[in-house]
Amino acid sequence: MKNGKNILVGVAWPYANGPLHLGHVAGSLLPPDIFARYHRMKGNAVLMVSGSDEHGTPITLKAENEGVTPQELVDRFHKEHVDSLSRLGISFDLFWRTSAQNHKKRVQDVFSRIYENGYVVEKEMIANYCPTCKRFLPDRYVEGTCPSCGYEGARGDQCESCGLILDLDELIDPRCKICGTRPVKRETKHLFLKLSALKPSLEKYAKSKKEVWRKNVYSFTINWLKDLRDRPITRDIDWGVEVPLEGYEKKRIYVWFEAVLGYYTTSIEYSERVGKKSLWKDFWMGKSRSFYFVGKDNIPFHAIILPAILLAHKGLNLPYDVPANEYLLFKGEQFSKSRNIGVWLKDFLERYDPDAIRYYLTINAPETKDVDFSLEDFYTRNDEELVSTYGNFIYRSLSFAYKNWGEVPKGEDELEKIVDQSWEKVGALIQERKFSSALRETMALAKEGNKYLNEKEPWKSIKNGRKDAEKAIHNSLRLARSLAIIMQPFLPFSSQRIWEMLGYEGSIEEVGWDEALKDIESGISLKKPEMLFRKIGR
Ligand code: MF3
Ligand code: ZN
Repeated sequence: MKNGKNILVGVAWPYANGPLHLGHVAGSLLPPDIFARYHRMKGNAVLMVSGSDEHGTPITLKAENEGVTPQELVDRFHKEHVDSLSRLGISFDLFWRTSAQNHKKRVQDVFSRIYENGYVVEKEMIANYCPTCKRFLPDRYVEGTCPSCGYEGARGDQCESCGLILDLDELIDPRCKICGTRPVKRETKHLFLKLSALKPSLEKYAKSKKEVWRKNVYSFTINWLKDLRDRPITRDIDWGVEVPLEGYEKKRIYVWFEAVLGYYTTSIEYSERVGKKSLWKDFWMGKSRSFYFVGKDNIPFHAIILPAILLAHKGLNLPYDVPANEYLLFKGEQFSKSRNIGVWLKDFLERYDPDAIRYYLTINAPETKDVDFSLEDFYTRNDEELVSTYGNFIYRSLSFAYKNWGEVPKGEDELEKIVDQSWEKVGALIQERKFSSALRETMALAKEGNKYLNEKEPWKSIKNGRKDAEKAIHNSLRLARSLAIIMQPFLPFSSQRIWEMLGYEGSIEEVGWDEALKDIESGISLKKPEMLFRKIGR
């Protein structure tokens, strides 16, 4: 039984309307994995959940485009997501999907409960209707010019260029995305989430996060709250979760409303699958803390809408933090599935070691500002940092040791202080969700290893009796062992390989974070070492 903290790690649900690209990885998929891996090693109970976001207009538009059914589309991309994510080593406890029956049923339960609690009201509203297509046009079926930044391809719900969330009638020069006709206004009924009634609680909640949330998340949220209006949570579409209310047979629950509830439904599903029905409560009630890792365009949904739903529902914990990343840009433009811009994760996984990808997208993470992705830079950092610093230190140490002793030679610990200090810093930085700095700190420790070897020159001292060389190599292996542990959250595949080359059995994921502080035992027999990484630049 673990006696640490309970930590819920939520990861933004990628749409199942196209393959994952590196923007997803850097923005929202990789940071939570580092965080979860670290906390598991610390002995905390972690539940890490996400899944494919399979409803709504992003899906129906793409399906219509391809001439397949929405279900066929999401089946294909869900499978691809699962495959790519596991090859990248993202350690979900459950990566589920919103088209699952049980997800839909639990969303309806939440919906009914907040309806009974008085937070859902019916309102007449004016919606966009296409006279040519003879249908109501939900958000993404309308395109036009963003009133704020002037971007001409802005969608009805949000401008992809500046991130602004839009109301249906705010677009300039709106057109039907299917046929190009200018939509007309028509009256229709929808159910609204009474955000106005929740405003005081939401403000209180957001203000309590001043010291916890990143600056961008905090100021965005506070601003948004100033102009908080009730929002429709049903849509005129037939692909989605049915509304458990008479008169709404032709409408569906708004995709964002049900997708953000995916964290909750997946927690319950996971508990049932592992045969501990109320396990999820450990992560949603009481002292547990929840962290939702998202891209910056997702801030309002996780820092306002999700908390609003949870407040209306009552009895469930609100997000503790929403560490939102900025964008990874591709030649100055946002990676985008819908516009086909970017570098696909699965292509990268065909070509490169997953740890090389993880390394680059962490060291170069868009944590505080947009960051440009460049292949050149990826090659350089791989070759000059990952291979030449880290890989080289590990390989030099292990191959010298293997050749001359075949086991870990004897020696006293000379590196305790250096390791302790780094270990402490890296742990603190990961806890603060500063993954790029944490990885830099770990690399600095690897550099110390090379420096140590260069100073001790065991390849020379071994010629004058073995004692000094033994000591130096003992310490190098000691550092290699510590590095394997400290690197595990970032680079799990190579950490496992080091672990095995050092003669250990089992998974390094089972090894405690504090184990990194220990000296290595002498006498364990080493396995024949192999290079950890390979150069990819020209
Ligand atoms: N699919 C959305 C996106 O890619 C994210 C949804 S996060 C969720 O922007 F929590 F709402 F599912
Ligand atoms: Zn039309």
